[in-house]
Amino acid sequence: MKNLNMSAPNSKGKGLRDKDLQNLYSLSDIKKLQPDIPLFRQETEAPSVYLFLDGELKVSRNVSGETREVTRLQQDNGGEGVAFIADAPWTVTVTATRPSTVLTLKRAVFDKLDKKIQLFFYKRRYRFDDDFIDRFMESKSRIDRQKELFQSYMLSLHTSPREDYLKSEIIAGILDKIPRLPTFTSNIAASLMDEEISSKAVADLVKEDPSLAAGVLKTVNSPYYGFGKNISDINHAVILLGFNELYQLVIAEGINRTMPNSPDFKDIFKHSICISRIAFALSLGSRVGKPAEISTIGLLHDLGTSVKHLLKKQNPKIGILIDYIDAAVIGAVLMEQWNLPERVCQSIELQNYPRFTSPDNIPDSLRDNVAVLYLAHVCFDFLESPKGAGDSPFIEDYIKLLGTESGSPRHITKKFIMPVLKKNLSTFPAFFRKLITKHTRNYEILN
Ligand SMILES: [Fe+2]
Repeated sequence: MKNLNMSAPNSKGKGLRDKDLQNLYSLSDIKKLQPDIPLFRQETEAPSVYLFLDGELKVSRNVSGETREVTRLQQDNGGEGVAFIADAPWTVTVTATRPSTVLTLKRAVFDKLDKKIQLFFYKRRYRFDDDFIDRFMESKSRIDRQKELFQSYMLSLHTSPREDYLKSEIIAGILDKIPRLPTFTSNIAASLMDEEISSKAVADLVKEDPSLAAGVLKTVNSPYYGFGKNISDINHAVILLGFNELYQLVIAEGINRTMPNSPDFKDIFKHSICISRIAFALSLGSRVGKPAEISTIGLLHDLGTSVKHLLKKQNPKIGILIDYIDAAVIGAVLMEQWNLPERVCQSIELQNYPRFTSPDNIPDSLRDNVAVLYLAHVCFDFLESPKGAGDSPFIEDYIKLLGTESGSPRHITKKFIMPVLKKNLSTFPAFFRKLITKHTRNYEILN
């Protein structure tokens, strides 16, 4: 008799007596399967009968040369205790996906067993209902096809406006009316993205615009940073703030000079600061993308939405038409005119792709930026309301790009974002700090 927990199948079955079980085990082998090892393959003979004891088995079927998964049998989803018996060659392939245990019995031995034991197996028999599996497979491939068509349709909707917008005189006229971003903003933003640049060179650029230099000194001396001494030297201020803080400051200053000081704009800007901080932390924590570049993208990503608000105010009669403008594209077109780095503009233009398509449809060079910006939104939603985050059908594909298997907004917030945010908490604007501490209080995620 084998060394087994005799009550396992019996507790799930209706009435195999201990004697029958002992008989069964004495006639069978216990097979240990490692992951990716098939128990049996489709279209091979079926000389044995199997009873799944524990682990995880994948049932798949080859349809027109393509292998498709039919189901997975697991211990905890009712799969345990399923039996495989066939009177003809197998019509599916069964493979272990985790270390698994299967009871194996020669068919000839099985046929001679007491009828009660045979019945025990037949009651647990995996349904090789070919019609059902074929129908299931057909509908699955139909859904896959529909998904593909849906994705390409959505892609075409999102790629056509750019050409239309560039040709449109009305839109060109509207964009022309928006004040240009101060030159210092695009110059400094571009230099800060150069990883080789020295803090002295950056300080020199800041000094070229006296009001920016004043803004930097005012910020660095504010109680908000708490450096505790009076700093009057720009070089020193640049070192203390660090390039990333300076980025935020320079771009914020530039946009504030360009955009109106309206409540709409302030709300969008607050949102952008939160996304920028979260995206920076996510990029740094997961080592995906360049944190400084992603932080800038976060700060600028909703500029197109601000532009739409502005346009509506200036042109109330065509407000309904302005609603149809794609904010991501119009924002990117505007930023190109402002000479912001190309990768920043292009990533912002594709920011909505993760909502309707998989990462494969995003160019390799921009995929990290677009994924981190999207996931920063997912995590921001999670921080605001843990129940309301992550409803995109492609979210898991994007989370996988971070190199983590466990894919939930909670998991990536805890693993990548919070450790970075925790270190910099004191330098955050009050509204963002409030969001983080509220979350920390409620979910103790920092600990
Ligand atoms: Fe946003």
